[in-house]
Amino acid sequence: MSAPAPASVAASSGPRAQTIRIDLGDRSYPILIGAGLLHDAQSWVDLPRATTAVVVSNVTVAPLYLSVVKQALAPHYARVLEVVLPDGEAHKDGVSLNAVFDHLLAQACDRRTVLFALGGGVIGDLTGFAAACYMRGVPFVQVPTTLLAQVDSSVGGKTAINHPLGKNMIGAFHQPVRVLCDLDVLRTLPDREYSAGLAEVIKYGPIADAEFLGWIEQHLPALMARDPAALAHAVRRSCEIKALVVGQDERESGLRAILNFGHTFGHAIEAGLGYGQWLHGEAVGCGMVLAAELSHRLGLMPASFVTRLRELIERAGLPVRAPDLGLARYLEWMRVDKKAEGGEIRFVVIEALGRAGMRAASDALVGEVLAAHTA
Ligand code: NAD
Ligand code: GLY
Repeated sequence: MSAPAPASVAASSGPRAQTIRIDLGDRSYPILIGAGLLHDAQSWVDLPRATTAVVVSNVTVAPLYLSVVKQALAPHYARVLEVVLPDGEAHKDGVSLNAVFDHLLAQACDRRTVLFALGGGVIGDLTGFAAACYMRGVPFVQVPTTLLAQVDSSVGGKTAINHPLGKNMIGAFHQPVRVLCDLDVLRTLPDREYSAGLAEVIKYGPIADAEFLGWIEQHLPALMARDPAALAHAVRRSCEIKALVVGQDERESGLRAILNFGHTFGHAIEAGLGYGQWLHGEAVGCGMVLAAELSHRLGLMPASFVTRLRELIERAGLPVRAPDLGLARYLEWMRVDKKAEGGEIRFVVIEALGRAGMRAASDALVGEVLAAHTA
């Protein structure tokens, strides 16, 4: 499985924003990328006609960006309301979801309501799911404010909340009507969160674009310094690749699974340590080292690939040694992964630089992979 050539992406550069279209028939939508987009009136025109806009955010992001978003929306809607949730993965749950529904119902929001997700992946996933469910579906706009959300979670329509028995287990596919990636908002992102986002940027190289992997290696110092030009390229290329993949396989019947490179190991790390210990992107970064090792041990990739990827991930400020949870606990968590079939754990592996596939692996092989990279 591999992503097709980038030439098929319709990308256009305007004076401020670059636009990438995600092609899904009548559910197609633009991803706008640029500095200062929240302040640009053009970002907010031509959204679905509605009477009420509801901005969903959290207590960290709202003080930074809610007022500018509400101001931008005011000319377009009779009412602009807000729901400000507590911050953190632990609040991506039924309680927060109900808080959104309570507000929508208490304010008599009807079907002519548009939700705006202003925040990272937690707010984006939860708001998207609220939009999928409320009155059997209302439109929503993604306004991602973390690097991870701009390059991954805001694009592609996967929405969900967590259940105590599994992450992202209650959800729906519901595409946004627009994604608005203002690169300026990344300036306030803490370093650790920024590095976590870089893990998802790095991911796109081995799975779909060997040249992009080389570009990231070369420009990592600029990316770490949040250089605007480097950041713009990284976000744009990541979104292009994601748009291509989702455009071909919206509901993950095949190709889309490659976007989960490193995630099977990563989810086990996140869950095994307890959510919040390691950030999602940190677990994915380390998970990619393990998945690279597995690709090598399956005879698909040379050992030098594992070293190359591990060095890049480490330079991005991410952990590369897996926590010692014990093989049994890793296997237990990996068996509840959404890619598992009939109890068989399946991994995204790299078959050649820029091309990914799926493979099952024996428990013994998983043990060898972990032993090679455990702290
Ligand atoms: P997050 O949403 O928790 O945000 C990280 C932290 O940064 C939070 O404390 C947040 O309040 C803060 N923050 C956000 N923007 C900020 C800004 N501009 N300045 C300062 N602080 C800011 O985490 P995340 O990494 O963005 O997202 C992780 C979530 O995304 C997970 O729940 C994961 O399951 C989900 N996810 C979903 C998909 C998908 O396809 N739907 C893909 C990948 C990840
Ligand atoms: N983040 C994986 C996907 O969107 O499919």
